[in-house]
Amino acid sequence: MDVLTAIRQRSSVRAYKATDVEEDKLKKILEAARLSPSASNRQEWKFVIVKNKETKKKLAKAAFGQSFIGEAPVVIVACATESKSIMACGQPAYTVDVSIACAFMILQAYELGLGTCWIGSFTEEETKKILNIPEHVRVVAMTPLGYPNEPPSEKIRKSLNQIVCYEKYA
Ligand SMILES: Cc1cc2nc3c(=O)[nH]c(=O)nc-3n(C[C@H](O)[C@H](O)[C@H](O)COP(=O)(O)O)c2cc1C
Repeated sequence: MDVLTAIRQRSSVRAYKATDVEEDKLKKILEAARLSPSASNRQEWKFVIVKNKETKKKLAKAAFGQSFIGEAPVVIVACATESKSIMACGQPAYTVDVSIACAFMILQAYELGLGTCWIGSFTEEETKKILNIPEHVRVVAMTPLGYPNEPPSEKIRKSLNQIVCYEKYA
């Protein structure tokens, strides 16, 4: 599968089969995160893999009751191990770095037939408590991971000419 096909066809999955995710597939997905680019190649990230039923349920609760998180066989919680670095452009490096790694994982998962759903709606404090995440570490995102139990949703996107301009901002 080429990259654009994966980007075109992937959609957020909010219903999962109980089928386990094969270890070799999970490793491939994590490898996509490991190989992702980061500012100054700092790689200040850690990915917590959660399979325990009770823990997943707690995470779903921390994500304001998005119960499908608890139903997926795996939840990946993406953390930044350093969050003070601000790039020259003014953006914090950690949100960018960890988000790229998550995007790469999501695409790799899709190629392997697995569904994901980026979760940004969660309480960081609660998530950190559940997973024993140290104070200085930031939780950037989480995603359930598993075989989809729903058809792909329709892709609603702006057109290219709405979002692209040439030479000067217009
Ligand atoms: C930063 C970010 C945060 C998101 N948070 C949530 C979330 O908490 N719950 C959820 O169901 N979907 C969440 N989504 C998924 C978006 O709603 C979804 O990507 C968007 O509607 C486009 O649909 P698609 O992913 O199916 O292409 C999030 C996506 C992003 C990129």
